[in-house]
Amino acid sequence: MLAGRFITLEGGEGCGKSTQSRLLAEWLRTKHIDVVQTREPGGTPGAEAIRALLLQGEAQKWDGVTEVLLFTAARRDHVEKVIKPAMARGAWVVCDRFADSTMAYQGYGHRLDRHIVTTLYTTAIGGFAPDLTLVLDIDVATGLDRARRVTGRDQDRFENMDMGFHERLREGFLTIAKAEPERCAVVDARGAVDEVQAQLRKTISERLQVR
Ligand code: TYD
Repeated sequence: MLAGRFITLEGGEGCGKSTQSRLLAEWLRTKHIDVVQTREPGGTPGAEAIRALLLQGEAQKWDGVTEVLLFTAARRDHVEKVIKPAMARGAWVVCDRFADSTMAYQGYGHRLDRHIVTTLYTTAIGGFAPDLTLVLDIDVATGLDRARRVTGRDQDRFENMDMGFHERLREGFLTIAKAEPERCAVVDARGAVDEVQAQLRKTISERLQVR
């Protein structure tokens, strides 16, 4: 029995997920909800080690299938050791990226066979899925501009893909959201932090009955 709720935030580069996740966790805590804020890839020592393997180094370091296997291995560790135990004790989990990122980045972005992405998810994670996925949507140019300004970095290998990649990524997230409207909600992420946060809170209040 999982009494808690599982909320994921998804979106392309520079959509502001990390800031928004933190603010959502703070807000839910004011409602006296026990909140676990986490992220992928990562969230456990093992998954953080896999994260380092994935995000550092050459862009062509792993082939597509190997990459999905690594993301999926990290995800299983995270789900089994952090997410499900937290939900079992009644906590709400707010997670910055989850499986939709694998479908969008590896499936749509890198054009890996989407059937492989789905099969590996089902094999490793089974029928477990988020209660609510918030897709933060922003046009590619604005998102990339923001990502560069905010982080001042250019080293993350997933940020160094061409524009076509980022366009496919955005399409991917929107397609996933359209296919699963009960689980997903698309939120316009172009506004100021406060405006986007207000939209996210409204969506959570409506969908998960937070008062
Ligand atoms: P991170 O620095 O956490 O970026 P962001 O702030 O955009 O979340 O790096 C995570 C990177 O990994 C990001 O570029 C998206 C990518 N990623 C995948 O390609 N597939 C996945 O399944 C996940 C979870 C992330």
